[in-house]
Amino acid sequence: MKVLNFGSLNMDYTYSVPHIIAGGETMASYELNEYCGGKGLNQSVAMAKAGLPVWHAGLIGNDGEKLLETCEAAGVHTEFIRKLPVRGGHTVIQVDEKGQNSIILYGGTNRMQTKEYADEVLAHFGSGDYLVLQNEINLLDYIIDKAYERGMKIVLNPSPYNEALDACDLSKVSLFLVNEIEAAQITGNKDPEHVLDALAESFPEAAFVLTLGSDGAWYYDGTEKVFQDIFPVKAVDTTAAGDTFTGFFIRKLTDGADIQTALRTAAKASSIAVTRVGAAPSIPTMAEVEAEI
Ligand code: RIB
Repeated sequence: MKVLNFGSLNMDYTYSVPHIIAGGETMASYELNEYCGGKGLNQSVAMAKAGLPVWHAGLIGNDGEKLLETCEAAGVHTEFIRKLPVRGGHTVIQVDEKGQNSIILYGGTNRMQTKEYADEVLAHFGSGDYLVLQNEINLLDYIIDKAYERGMKIVLNPSPYNEALDACDLSKVSLFLVNEIEAAQITGNKDPEHVLDALAESFPEAAFVLTLGSDGAWYYDGTEKVFQDIFPVKAVDTTAAGDTFTGFFIRKLTDGADIQTALRTAAKASSIAVTRVGAAPSIPTMAEVEAEI
């Protein structure tokens, strides 16, 4: 079993601010930092730091050397990452005094995947292998269809949720990792208590992890329902907390751990990530997580 993560790689320009800026407001920031991020890169780094061999596919620009180096340093297999001679993906992130963020995405090379490139990468994977996806790259619908044809198990974190997902055949997804907003957008059901049932009804073949911020996380596969509370900490930066959760959950799941263990490990990993600044740099190793559990 191999794990391929086909996803975004971003340079994050992170501004520390007193509060998230309002429309029409001008505000000085305390500090600017540059971190490696992107939901795709973060999840690959999290899986690798959790001890899972992972191959990342995605496109960087001529400003993306650091992104490649970060993947390599974390132990991610990078032979499928390609560089294009144009500007890569980046974000402008505000982080306020409570650690909450708001993110503007510039897609850059993340929006330049081609069918030929997707086919070339997917040819290295087959039945029983995992494909992990988020929603920051183009061609998600094509990649899902082709991976499914190859018998791969598809894991989707549909974040950020937008109309590109309407083109995807989501019945081909085996595992969804969603927050309450994305779950409501997928099901049209806003009541968190009913969201899991609505998801299971819409996608009877899939399993779901629903994260609810400070209200913990649920797993449901139509039969087994498991709850995991958060590990309370003082957050300094929540960027990549969800990606860390995803990476550690997948690591434990593919390892054959029981769901409660997988959720607990993921919750602990993400609680550590929020106490550190930045996206990829905030992701702990499995040893750090296990030492605290
Ligand atoms: O999930 C966090 C990530 O979202 C950041 O690293 C940023 O790049 C955006 O993609």
